[in-house]
Amino acid sequence: MKVIYPGSFDPITNGHIDIINRSCLLFDSVVIGVSKNKSKNHLFTLEERKEMIDEVFRGRKNIIVKIFDGLLYKFCEEENTNCIIRGLRAISDYEYELQMAMANKSLKADLETFFLVSNNKYSFLSSSLVKEIAYYGGSIDNLVPDNVKKLLFNKYKGVE
Ligand code: COA
Repeated sequence: MKVIYPGSFDPITNGHIDIINRSCLLFDSVVIGVSKNKSKNHLFTLEERKEMIDEVFRGRKNIIVKIFDGLLYKFCEEENTNCIIRGLRAISDYEYELQMAMANKSLKADLETFFLVSNNKYSFLSSSLVKEIAYYGGSIDNLVPDNVKKLLFNKYKGVE
C-alpha cells in the first residue's frame, strides 16, 4: 500500500525523516507531498524543498518526493491512495491534526489518516525552531541532515 506524507518541510528535519523511515516499515511506498501552508511564510521555495528531500532519500526506491498544489485529498486521488500519515509530537499537535484529518475525510470519505508518535528525541523539534537556531548561529548538527544544514547556512549567510 502507498501512503502520502504531506507537509511544508521548510526545511525537512530529522523528526520528519524519522517518521518517513518508520512509515517505510509499514507501507510499501511513501510519497512525500511537499506543499505550501497558506498560513506560513516559507524560507525555501517548493523546488528547493523538493530537491533537498530528494537528496536525503537518494537511492531509496520506495520513497518518492512530489510537489502538490491545492487540496490534499485531490493529491491523494491523483496518487491513487487513500492513506495519509502524520506525526504527533505532543498533545498540542492533536487538535490541529484531528481537525485536518476530519476535514480531509469530509472531502473524501474513504481517506484514512494514520498517526505515528514522534520519537522522543525529536518531540520538541519543528522547522521554525531549526531556522531560528540556524539564524542565530547555533548548532543544528543533530536536528537536520548535512545537506539541509548547508542550505540553511547559505540562506542566512550575511544576515546580521
Ligand atoms: N518532527 C519534527 N517536526 C515536525 C514533525 C515531526 N515528526 N511533525 C510536524 N513537525 C513540524 C513541522 O516542522 C512544522 O513546523 P513549523 O510550523 O515550524 O513549520 C509543523 O510541525 C507542522 O508542519 P508540517 O507537518 O510541515 O505541516 P504543515 O502544517 O506545515 O503543512 C499541509 C500542512 C501542507 C499538509 C496542509 O496545510 C495541507 O494539507 N495543505 C493542503 C490544503 C489542504 O488540503 N488542507 C487541508 C484540508 S482543509
